[in-house]
Amino acid sequence: MGVDASRFDLAGATALVTGASRGIGRAIALGLAAVGADVAGIARTETALSELGGEVRALGRGFLAVPADVRDPEAGESAVERAWGWRGRIDILVNAAGVIVRSDPPGVTLEEFDLVFDTNVRGTFFLTQAVGARMLEAGGGSIVTVASLAGEVVTGAAVTYQASKAALVQMTRALAVRWAPTVRVNAVGPGYVRTSLNSAWLDEPDNLRYVTERTPLGRVGTPEDVVGAVVFLASPASAFVTGQHLLVDGGWSAQ
Ligand SMILES: NC(=O)c1ccc[n+]([C@@H]2O[C@H](COP(=O)([O-])OP(=O)(O)OC[C@H]3O[C@@H](n4cnc5c(N)ncnc54)[C@H](OP(=O)(O)O)[C@@H]3O)[C@@H](O)[C@H]2O)c1
Repeated sequence: MGVDASRFDLAGATALVTGASRGIGRAIALGLAAVGADVAGIARTETALSELGGEVRALGRGFLAVPADVRDPEAGESAVERAWGWRGRIDILVNAAGVIVRSDPPGVTLEEFDLVFDTNVRGTFFLTQAVGARMLEAGGGSIVTVASLAGEVVTGAAVTYQASKAALVQMTRALAVRWAPTVRVNAVGPGYVRTSLNSAWLDEPDNLRYVTERTPLGRVGTPEDVVGAVVFLASPASAFVTGQHLLVDGGWSAQ
């Protein structure tokens, strides 16, 4: 079989993206729309979702705003029900909602720990379970979770954040095995990407120097840098790939 560019084409597919209101999730929502997908977006900030909707529609694709807090499993389940009912299917789920709290042991409070794990792990787990159940019944789907370089190696990120991302990496592998061959489950692991999650931290000259000197490609990433890996894992081009954590880290983990 020759090279078939249509294997990257998502025309006619429906994607659900969490964390779509800004940063990496927003760039992914626009990237999936650019290669043909209709997009439903989950986040808490409704104004940002409706602004994104205007941009997705300008690309000629459909958009559904589904405001929800992923920390609440019941809200997650009704958001998934709404998003699934929109087109009668979801072909692609991208879990990008996530938070970091910059306190480290021995000073981490229970509230800080719970915020990180309730959002990054519990929220992602139950959202994935709700969509995955429907994908299994429908006979197919692709799930991509935005984990992190910090889920594989120790970085400057907070310890609670690193632990939560490692949980997502192993969740990805375990679900990939459980749900094969019907649903593929993968993750992307960005290195340092400038977004509202870390721009204040990166504005500290010592932190910026630490990142750029440690990154072979010599710069901080952009949200758009993450999009290609997600499109690949979401599309038929990756039909024989499951259970992987594809690092998009400027070469950080290579040395
Ligand atoms: N930036 C990096 O260097 C980097 C590196 C590796 C991995 N990541 C991961 O990439 C993902 C996106 O992060 P980002 O850097 O783009 O951060 P960001 O700009 O702060 O965006 C975070 C997104 O998550 C959503 N979110 C947070 N809590 C939520 C909740 N309880 N319910 C629903 N949505 C929620 C936010 O929407 P609302 O506030 O509107 O709800 C927003 O859309 C995260 O999982 C992060 O851990 C980031």
